[in-house]
Amino acid sequence: MGRILVVDDERSMREFLAICLKRGGHEVTVVESGVQAVAVLDRAPFDIVITDLRMPGDTDGIGVLQAVKARELDTEVVMVTAFATAETALSAMKLGAYDYLTKPFKVDVINTVIARALEKRSLVEANVALREQVAGRYRLASIIGKSARMQKLFALVVKIHSTKTSVLITGESGTGKELVARALHTEGNRGEAEFVAVNCGAIPDNLMESELFGHIKGAFTGAVSDKVGLIRRADKGTLFLDEIGELSLGLQVKLLRVLQERTVRPVGGEDEVAVDVRVLAATNRELEEEVARGAFRNDLYYRLNVIELRIPPLRQRITDIPLLAEHFLTRHAAGLPREIRGFTPQALRHLEQYDYPGNVRELENMIERAVTLADGPLIDVLDLPERKTPAPHPGEHLPSVFPEDGIDLDRAIADFERGIVEQAMTQAGGVRKRAAGLLGITFRSLRYRLAKLGLDTHDPAGENPNAK
Ligand SMILES: Nc1ncnc2c1ncn2[C@@H]1O[C@H](COP(=O)(O)OP(=O)(O)OP(=O)(O)O)[C@@H](O)[C@H]1O
Ligand SMILES: [Mg+2]
Repeated sequence: MGRILVVDDERSMREFLAICLKRGGHEVTVVESGVQAVAVLDRAPFDIVITDLRMPGDTDGIGVLQAVKARELDTEVVMVTAFATAETALSAMKLGAYDYLTKPFKVDVINTVIARALEKRSLVEANVALREQVAGRYRLASIIGKSARMQKLFALVVKIHSTKTSVLITGESGTGKELVARALHTEGNRGEAEFVAVNCGAIPDNLMESELFGHIKGAFTGAVSDKVGLIRRADKGTLFLDEIGELSLGLQVKLLRVLQERTVRPVGGEDEVAVDVRVLAATNRELEEEVARGAFRNDLYYRLNVIELRIPPLRQRITDIPLLAEHFLTRHAAGLPREIRGFTPQALRHLEQYDYPGNVRELENMIERAVTLADGPLIDVLDLPERKTPAPHPGEHLPSVFPEDGIDLDRAIADFERGIVEQAMTQAGGVRKRAAGLLGITFRSLRYRLAKLGLDTHDPAGENPNAK
C-alpha cells in the first residue's frame, strides 16, 4: 500500500481519484494546485504523485514533476492529461515521469499503473537497503559478510588484530584469505607500518631465500649490493606468506628460525638481524595432510597455526550473496554511462542457488560480466550465466537395457568409480580429506583410488582452477 498525493484543479477528478485509491487501500492526500503540491511534498514523503498536467497558476504538472526531481525524492510521478498529445506526454516522460494517463480513464487502468509504480519503488528500496547493509555493520575493512559464520570471523579478527600471534588463514580459492590478512593488518596496531605479501608459490626456490632474507654484497654472482629482504621490509609491520604450502622444506627450516628467534640472517651474512614482524600465512591446501605426507614441517605448522581463521566457502554462507553481489555491482557499475540500480528478485534467487566452486572471486566475475551485458536499470537472470546442470545421478550410469553384445564389467565399474570420486572431490572443494569423509573411506584409501584412476595429478593449478 502506498502514500499517494493527488494534484488536480478539477474537483470531480480529485474526488474520483481519492475514492478509487482509498478503496485500493492507499493513503491519499489531495491538493488543488501545483503550488500546494510542492508545499506538501516538502513536508511529507510520498510514494507516488498523480498530477494533472494542465493546471492554472505558476506550477503546472511539469512544475510538480520538476519539483520532485529537484528534491531528489524517491517518488514516482504519474501525469494525467485530457489533452493527450504525444508530445506533452513524451516531454513529461523525458523529464522522468513514471507514466501518464489520458482522461477519461477506467478504474482498472489507474490501479494497474499504481501497482506497477509501487512495485518499482519496492524494488529500488530493497536494493537501497542492501547498499546500506554493505556500508554498515556487515563490513570489516573491505570484507563484506552478514552470515553468522562471517560475523564470527569478524569478531575473531577484531579480537586478535593487535596481537603478535601468528595466524593461519585457510579456505578454498577465492574465499577472501588475502582480504582477511589485509584486514588483520590495517585494523590492528601495525597498520601504519608495511604489509608485505609474499606469494610462496610464485618465486622460484633458488631466488626465494634471498628475496625473503636478503643478501649481502658478493654473496653470489649477481649480488652486486646488499639487499634487505622482504622479512626485514616488514619490520614493525606484517609479513603475509601466501600459499605457504608451496614453501620448500629447506626454507621452512629457515622460516622456523625467524619465528623462534625473531632474527634473520641475510644470505652470505654472518650476523643475525633482529626483526619485529607479525607473520600471517594462508593456504588453500589442507596443511595437515601435507604434514602427514612429510611435505610440510610439523614444527613450522604449529608455529604458524597458533590461531586458525577458516573462511567458509561461499556456498555455505548464502546470506552473504546478495550483499556481495550489490557490492560488486556498485564497484563495476561506477563510471558506466548507464545507470544500473540493482537486481531483479529472480536474479538474486538465481545467484543464491549457484554453488561457486571459485567462491567470491567467481561471483565477482559473474557480476562484472552481467553489468556489461545488462540493458536495463536492473540486472536480470538473462544477464547471468546459465546455472550448471547438476552432475548426473549415479544410477544414470547404468544402461537401461543390457547391451546385446555384453559389457566390460571392470571398465564399467572403474568409470562409475571415477564419476563418484570426481563428484566427491568437487563437493569437497578439492580437499582430499573432506572428500574421503564424504565417501566414507579413509584418506589413505582415497589416495590409492585417485592414483589408480589417474586423478592424482596433485597439481596445485588443478586444485585451484580460479587462481589469478
Ligand atoms: N567477503 C568479501 N567481501 C568483499 N570482497 C571479497 C570478499 N571475499 C573475497 N572478495 C574478493 O574476491 C576476490 C578474491 O579474494 P582473495 O584474493 O582474498 O581470495 P583468496 O582466498 O586469497 O584466493 P586464492 O586462494 O585464489 O589466492 C578479491 O577480489 C576480493 O576482493
Ligand atoms: Mg590469495
